[in-house]
Amino acid sequence: MNSAPDPGSQSERRQRSRFLRLVKHRSTILGAVGSIDDGPRRGLPALLRLCHRSHNPRMTHIDRRDRSEDQGDEQMHADLSTPRRRGHRIRILAVVAAGLALLAACGQGGGGGDASAYPEDSITITVPFSAGGPTDTVTRLVAKPMSKDLGQEIVVKNVEGAGGTLGAGDVANAEPDGYNLLMHHIGMSTAPALYPDLAYDPLKDFKTIGLVTTVPMTIVSNKDFEPNNLEELITYVKANADKVTLANAGVGAASHLCGLLIEQAVGADLNEVPYDGTGPALTDLVGGQVDFMCDQTTNTVPQIEGDKVKAFAVTTPERIDALPDLQTTEEAGQPDIKVGVWHGLYAPAETPDEVVKAVTDALAKALKDPEVVKKFADLGTKPVPEDQVTPEAHTKLLMEQIDLWTPVIEEAGVKGS
Ligand code: MLT
Repeated sequence: MNSAPDPGSQSERRQRSRFLRLVKHRSTILGAVGSIDDGPRRGLPALLRLCHRSHNPRMTHIDRRDRSEDQGDEQMHADLSTPRRRGHRIRILAVVAAGLALLAACGQGGGGGDASAYPEDSITITVPFSAGGPTDTVTRLVAKPMSKDLGQEIVVKNVEGAGGTLGAGDVANAEPDGYNLLMHHIGMSTAPALYPDLAYDPLKDFKTIGLVTTVPMTIVSNKDFEPNNLEELITYVKANADKVTLANAGVGAASHLCGLLIEQAVGADLNEVPYDGTGPALTDLVGGQVDFMCDQTTNTVPQIEGDKVKAFAVTTPERIDALPDLQTTEEAGQPDIKVGVWHGLYAPAETPDEVVKAVTDALAKALKDPEVVKKFADLGTKPVPEDQVTPEAHTKLLMEQIDLWTPVIEEAGVKGS
């Protein structure tokens, strides 16, 4: 087929042909090059777009179309083989080499997507607990101003189960393109010790984006539960350990960790009733299906204010403004029942730093939004200080918390499955 004179060696020819074929298979670059002289200017942006699209199943038609064009390779090869075209050939090979390096970077950890154009599509934040619960509430409150700032819709997706580890596992394996994020809480630091077969490593499989808030917890019961204060509750539960029920959101959930502290204070294992989140658990508590639980103020304040549940104490060192009449666990003689539920936003590990920075900036702005600040305050919490809304501060806390909880959990011998 190739009747044109060939100035290069056979191996040069093969190499050149392989380059061209590879590029045609993997990208739209030849279409983008059009005039070969335009290559460096037009080809690289095309490759950047490809970098994004190679992670997008909607774009797989490009590969199919390009394969059907393979027969054009030989003609292209013939055109490039004349001495007159040698300068062009060098230029196109330079584009190809740069492109291949870019594609390699794209596949090896740069993540998918033209990071500088991010976001070009809607973003999903996975909440690893039920809709209507505390993590969901915090996420939806910050997602609204973040969406406005980023100029794209933010979809909140609830992937509940196994104390938050199922949703976190989903995001660990999602495309690292900035369109798949995870809102998680303290459970991110306890899961490695609790779940021997954990499908992800919180430190290796995610990039931290920034801390969000630390939420106090409250000990609450249904209205018919006999005890009327924390001291009575401990005594009653101790005497009735075989029949009282303690709701939680699964092993590793904040409600579970706080429940362990209660069990320690009581000195007995209790009948735990696990839910996929404390949203549904609180509904059952109000309905009298379970006796008591420990839950975040972002879920319980409305129920406490509405007199739908009995509240025994808040788990912070100081009383909180949203519930000024509620004593602290320390005031009630249980200083060891102390826990704050910190939340952070994550992306899969290979997400480009530029994309993470865009999300960090949007999160930091959202946490200053007056509506977010007010709603957080109404629910007993507040945004973290601005210097905590960084990947560095978030990673530092995550590492400290893993170090803190791992020996505690190992000593307690608690395991999830
Ligand atoms: C939830 O959103 O349901 C929770 O954060 C549950 C928990 O950790 O207790």
